[in-house]
Amino acid sequence: MRIDKPINYAVTPKKDCARYKMHKYWAAKPWYVVAEYIEHFTQEGEIVMDPFCGSGVVGCEALIHRRKTVLNDLNPMATFIARNICSSPIDLKRFDKEFINIKNKLRSTIVDMYRLIEPCPECGAPLYIKHLVRGPSLENRWIVEARCSNGHGRSGHIRRYLTPEEKAFIATVERCDIPYWFPQNTFPDGREIMRLKNVDINRVDQLFTRRNLIALSLLHNEIQKISDVSIKELMLMAFSNTLLHVSKLKSEALRPMSANSYYCMGDWIEENVWERFENRVNWHWGVYQGKQETNRLIDDYFNPVESFDGFSSGGTFMISNGPAQDLSNIPDESIDYCFTDPPYGGSIQYFELTYLWRSWLDMSHGFIDNEVIVNDFQGKQYDSFETMLTEVFREVYRVMKPGRWLSVTFNNRDTRIWEALLKACQIAGFEIINVVPQNPVGHSFVQSWSGKALKRDLILNFRKPKAVHYNQTNCNDFEEYLNIREMIIESARDFLSKNQRALLSEIYEAVVIRWINMVYGGLKRKTSTDEDNCKEIQNKVFDIDTVDRILEQESDFSRIEDNNRIFYRKNTC
Ligand SMILES: C[S@@+](CC[C@H](N)C(=O)[O-])C[C@H]1O[C@@H](n2cnc3c(N)ncnc32)[C@H](O)[C@@H]1O
Ligand SMILES: [Zn+2]
Repeated sequence: MRIDKPINYAVTPKKDCARYKMHKYWAAKPWYVVAEYIEHFTQEGEIVMDPFCGSGVVGCEALIHRRKTVLNDLNPMATFIARNICSSPIDLKRFDKEFINIKNKLRSTIVDMYRLIEPCPECGAPLYIKHLVRGPSLENRWIVEARCSNGHGRSGHIRRYLTPEEKAFIATVERCDIPYWFPQNTFPDGREIMRLKNVDINRVDQLFTRRNLIALSLLHNEIQKISDVSIKELMLMAFSNTLLHVSKLKSEALRPMSANSYYCMGDWIEENVWERFENRVNWHWGVYQGKQETNRLIDDYFNPVESFDGFSSGGTFMISNGPAQDLSNIPDESIDYCFTDPPYGGSIQYFELTYLWRSWLDMSHGFIDNEVIVNDFQGKQYDSFETMLTEVFREVYRVMKPGRWLSVTFNNRDTRIWEALLKACQIAGFEIINVVPQNPVGHSFVQSWSGKALKRDLILNFRKPKAVHYNQTNCNDFEEYLNIREMIIESARDFLSKNQRALLSEIYEAVVIRWINMVYGGLKRKTSTDEDNCKEIQNKVFDIDTVDRILEQESDFSRIEDNNRIFYRKNTC
């Protein structure tokens, strides 16, 4: 057993795999990190929990490594994705049969709506639209990228303006009725959703062209007829993973929601719905490939149960859809390990960003009050974020076995958000043992664009003490002893003694880790002596700009700007 010591190294990255490409979700954690942590902290047959499970990476890796798992998420879209990623074994012959059935019934009807009048310039066969750039900024010069049935145009070289006759054909298609149900609900007001309302998109259906609504309603209606529930859910998963790409959220320069928000650009694209759906079902990274992988890796170890008692009679998988502030379906001291990834303050608005999917899948939107988030539109500031997180970690503490571990992955550029998390865990009774940076798989849009976020996620390893400690530090004490300025300079000095020069963001990471250890961990604390600190430094909140300003003033360091990046070097005397 290795579980007496936490992992203290960055896990070596491994390749992407199909099971986590079946559906987009935000902030999905690298599977190989999750797998290594589960293997390190637990043994086969033990129970691994994730109360903020998102797309279910923790549950799926637990099952693959023959651990039982308890998942929870407030958002029904998350539990839908998680359950369908974990389900195994799936009858893929049946899945394929249902897909062929849909294809036989709908492919030609849908594809015909996207045909062009001019034939393929290479072979004369009919041409079909792959995508059409037709947002308002194009005015009348719509640009089409096309393919023929013989495969010409795959490399994107059949690209031209749409002819007036082809435009007239689209107008004919769009005079038809939308044959079946489609969502027409009004978007609620929200921080990200306001970007849609600002460009006059108020209802879910307004995010799609009429032609795409016709195609989507046909597909949706056909999928509803599938009688096998697990196959139907997987087909719906391919359907919902089609939606963003066939909406007006896609432009040639921007993948939909890559900036974690609803941007509808003036040059939006209309994609061919059939092509995208087929791609989501069984091309590279489709649902079929994902389930082939989980069939092979999980096989018959997936045994879902409705209640915790089921674990004693062969159950291996329990998922609930509710607030993690209330885990009353889990008994005290029953969980062997918890790996979780809570929302990072307000940086990703899960309720809002999943609204479009939930509307098409006819799911509830009524859970918003319990979402752990910072969002003005929900009246939730830092204090309510902290209060809710504290409630969650109290529950996590209650259900965990004494002496066992909790790993929390986190990333935020605002120390108030870090503080909320650290206080929540500390108040609950957890002891922080170490902090480990993990290399990102790929930088998110915000990370690479702003250069102001932490470059890497940090994993905080906590332990539930074997016996309760009554003399815990009062978490507000640190304001009296912590001198942020000294701490920043010391961290930079340390870091630069091992590295010739360093990116500002690397030094910032070192500062955050030192700060966590000083305030919440076991490092020896310093006493504030510098009376001259400016107000901003005395205030405990610091961010990467604070670090930059403080180091810039220090004669020990030189600041270098190179290619829009900021470096520091230690001066030699
Ligand atoms: C950072 S994401 C987790 C992503 C996950 N690690 C993955 O790999 O997909 C945080 C999740 O917390 C969920 N959440 C927010 N408030 C919650 C609450 N009160 N109870 C349970 N889940 C909540 C969100 O719906 C979101 O799915
Ligand atoms: Zn051709």
